[in-house]
Amino acid sequence: KYQTMALNLKDYVASYPDFPEPGVFFRDISPLLENGEAYKQATNEIVDYAKKIGAEVIVGPEARGFIVGCPVAYELGIGFAPARKKGKLPGKTVKETYGLEYGQSALYLHEDAIKQGQKVLVTDDLLATGGTLAATIKLIEDLGGVVVGTAFLVELTKLHGRDKLKGYDILSLMKY
Ligand code: PRP
Ligand code: ADE
Repeated sequence: KYQTMALNLKDYVASYPDFPEPGVFFRDISPLLENGEAYKQATNEIVDYAKKIGAEVIVGPEARGFIVGCPVAYELGIGFAPARKKGKLPGKTVKETYGLEYGQSALYLHEDAIKQGQKVLVTDDLLATGGTLAATIKLIEDLGGVVVGTAFLVELTKLHGRDKLKGYDILSLMKY
């Protein structure tokens, strides 16, 4: 049977020097999201990974972590818990502040979003310094969740985000 070739996902990442501020080389996944085949291929790869690690729920940080995690959760029929920025979650929350490649921020997770011992996959579009992911992991663990894996579309290896994720399994579909 005729099989279509896998796409090279890097063809669907745009690069912008000095965005959002001087010195940052911004890797933009918008073209990937705007192409149905590319978005589906990337999602399917993360779905396979989520199955392999036995994920029971997905957590993604606002905003781009939602875009990567939600279609995976939908495909698997499991839940998605959003880790959100300040002033967005109405219920009781846990909070974690963190630094990222550009700036400082805080993330919140609803206290009842994760059950004790639940196996969690964390998703985001991009791993840079790892600050966002480390904060998201802390929130999950504060609630008794077990992070069984992390998945990204893009990893910026020069920023050594992996060093902040020591001991956690990492899937990154593209490395720069
Ligand atoms: C970006 C990106 C990752 C994070 C990576 O999010 O989507 O979440 O930065 O950087 P780090 O590894 O240095 O923490 P941003 O905070 O810009 O928010 P957005 O998704 O709402 O655009
Ligand atoms: N988030 C943090 N650093 C980034 C970068 N260089 N490109 C895109 N998103 C980012």
